[in-house]
Amino acid sequence: MLVVTDAGTMNAAARLAQLAAQAAACTDCRLCEERTRAVFADGSPSADLMVIGEAPGRNEDLQGLPFVGRAGQLLNELLEHVGLRRQDIYIANVVKCRPPGNRDPRPDEIDACKHFLADQIRIVDPKVVMTMGNFSSKLLLKTEIGITRLRGNVIPWWGRHVVPTFHPAAALRNGPKMVDVMKSDFALAVATINRSADPTGGSRPVIREEPEQLGLFGSTR
Ligand code: URA
Repeated sequence: MLVVTDAGTMNAAARLAQLAAQAAACTDCRLCEERTRAVFADGSPSADLMVIGEAPGRNEDLQGLPFVGRAGQLLNELLEHVGLRRQDIYIANVVKCRPPGNRDPRPDEIDACKHFLADQIRIVDPKVVMTMGNFSSKLLLKTEIGITRLRGNVIPWWGRHVVPTFHPAAALRNGPKMVDVMKSDFALAVATINRSADPTGGSRPVIREEPEQLGLFGSTR
């Protein structure tokens, strides 16, 4: 049977595969020394929704896929809540290799790695990016405002929208109230995608913050 694939999607998939191979061989920062494998991404190369975490943990490092541990299970539940599956979205992290002992990624590691994420966003071209937690939110939005204040907003960003939310690992630590907040953020992200698909233009998303936007990413130094 002839499988006809959208040429744009094919192209995006091939470009992402090329980038993934570069990440797998990357030695630009110290994180390459202890990784089992680089964790590039999971999901659809033509997704309307992209979610960005922080860094791979132990399970991710072993399997080579993002969000496959407990935080990943919660992510799957949050997606299910809004009628999505992992394969409907694109999942990536700020840094592609596991920081030893799951420590926070350091500014120089983020700076060395962020070109991969910038290319992933350009190639996938999602309508909405959900930044999960402080690291991805601060990087994309070039802000020092913390995630507790950022979340719940729809922020215009380079022709698309960023919807910041908590990191699933934080929700696992903090309990059901934070999970409920994340559910409402995921619903907000989906509503924003649907609004942008409305041929009549729909009503404008609620925008309460508009950070300075001089370059795709801020410096983390
Ligand atoms: N936490 C993250 O930020 N990313 C993963 O891939 C897993 C856990």
